[in-house]
Amino acid sequence: MTLSTPDPAPRMRAAFLRALGGPEQIEVGELPLPRPGAGQVLLAVRASSLDPVDALVRSGAFPTGTPFPFVLGRDAVGTVVDAGAGAEDLLGRRMATSSLGHDGRQGAWAGFTLVERERAYPVPEDVEEETLVAALHPASTAHLALHRHGRLAPGQTVLVGGGGGNVGGALVAEAVRAGAQVVATARERDAAGVRALGADRSSVGACPGAGTVTTVDHTAADAPEQLRTLLADRTDLVVDTSGRLDPELVADLMAVRGRIVVITAPPSPPRIPLARLYTRDVSLHGFVISRATVDELADAARGTVRLLQETPWRPRLAENRDLDAARSLHERLDAGGIEGRVVMRIRA
Ligand SMILES: NC(=O)c1ccc[n+]([C@@H]2O[C@H](COP(=O)([O-])OP(=O)(O)OC[C@H]3O[C@@H](n4cnc5c(N)ncnc54)[C@H](OP(=O)(O)O)[C@@H]3O)[C@@H](O)[C@H]2O)c1
Repeated sequence: MTLSTPDPAPRMRAAFLRALGGPEQIEVGELPLPRPGAGQVLLAVRASSLDPVDALVRSGAFPTGTPFPFVLGRDAVGTVVDAGAGAEDLLGRRMATSSLGHDGRQGAWAGFTLVERERAYPVPEDVEEETLVAALHPASTAHLALHRHGRLAPGQTVLVGGGGGNVGGALVAEAVRAGAQVVATARERDAAGVRALGADRSSVGACPGAGTVTTVDHTAADAPEQLRTLLADRTDLVVDTSGRLDPELVADLMAVRGRIVVITAPPSPPRIPLARLYTRDVSLHGFVISRATVDELADAARGTVRLLQETPWRPRLAENRDLDAARSLHERLDAGGIEGRVVMRIRA
C-alpha cells in the first residue's frame, strides 16, 4: 500500500559498499528502491547519524551480515511512505529506528530504507528529529548499560567514566533521572555541563544523595585519590566510556555485589584484579549494543525519548553533512578525528 507514488523507475541515492574494507570502498550513487514485505515499512529518510561502530562494520572488524551492495548507516528518522501487509497503520507516520546496517539489514544512508515494524519507533511531536537521531545511539547505549545490564536501583551510587562524552552525558542524565547518586570524570571544560545534569532533588525521591552529580577531573594528578575519597567500597555500578579508568582503582571503589559494565576497552589488555572482584561478589559485565534484542532496542528508544523530554541532556552536535561526505566522514572516523555527533541530512 503506497501513500505517495514513487518515481516510475524507482531508484534512490545511497552511500554503500560493494566490499568490506577502508573508506575508499564507499560509493555514493543510485540503487533500486526497496519494496516493503510483510511487516515492513519503507521509510523516507530525512536524517541519519555517524556512529563509531560504523567503521567496524565497514572494515569487517565487527563481523556481521552485509549483503552487497550494502548501504551504510545505523540510525534514521523519517516518514513512512509505503508499508507491507500488517504494517499499513504506520503509513504517513514520523518514525525513527536504531539498528539498521547490521545483521543482514540494509543501512540508513539512503533516500529510503526498509524497517521491520518492531524496529520502528514513533517520534513524538515535541521531540526534534535531528536531536533524536543524534541521541539514539549514545542514549540507547546508556539506557541499556544502566538498566538492562547494570540493574540500577534508586539511591545507588554510579561512577561514570568520561561524563563529558556523548555516551557519558547520557549515562549521567539517565542515572540522575533514575534516582542515583553520580560521580563522573570530566575535565574542567566539561565539568559544569556534567554537573548541570544533576536533578532538582525533590524530583528524584527521598534516597540520600539521589540526583546529585559530582565531577572529578581525570587530568588532575590526584584524580585517583579524589575518586577513592568519594567512592571507596561504595560504588554500586561503574560504566567507563573512556576505557581508561585503572581496573585496580575501580576494583577498590566497588561495593559488595557491585557491577562493572564494560562498553569499551583500552588498546592493550588491562590487568584485572580478579581476587578483589570475586571476594566482593563484584560482576564484570560486557555489553555491546549491536547484540541488543529487538525488545531491548525498543525499550532503549523509549528511554531515549524520555531522556530528551525529561532531562536537560542533549547529544553534542558537531556538524551536519550529506551523503556526498560519506567517504570523508569515514576517513575522519578511522583517524579518530570526529568529536561529537554528526547528523547526516538526506534528501529523498
Ligand atoms: N558497547 C557499546 O554498545 C557502545 C555503544 C556506543 C559507544 N561505545 C563506545 O563508547 C566509547 C565512548 O563513546 P562516546 O561517543 O561517548 O565518545 P566520546 O564522546 O569521545 O567520549 C569519551 C569520553 O572519555 C573521556 N576520557 C578520555 N580519556 C579519559 C581518561 N583517561 N579518563 C577519564 N575519561 C577520559 C573523554 O574526555 P576528554 O575529552 O576530556 O578526554 C570523553 O569525555 C567509545 O569507545 C565507543 O566506541 C560502545
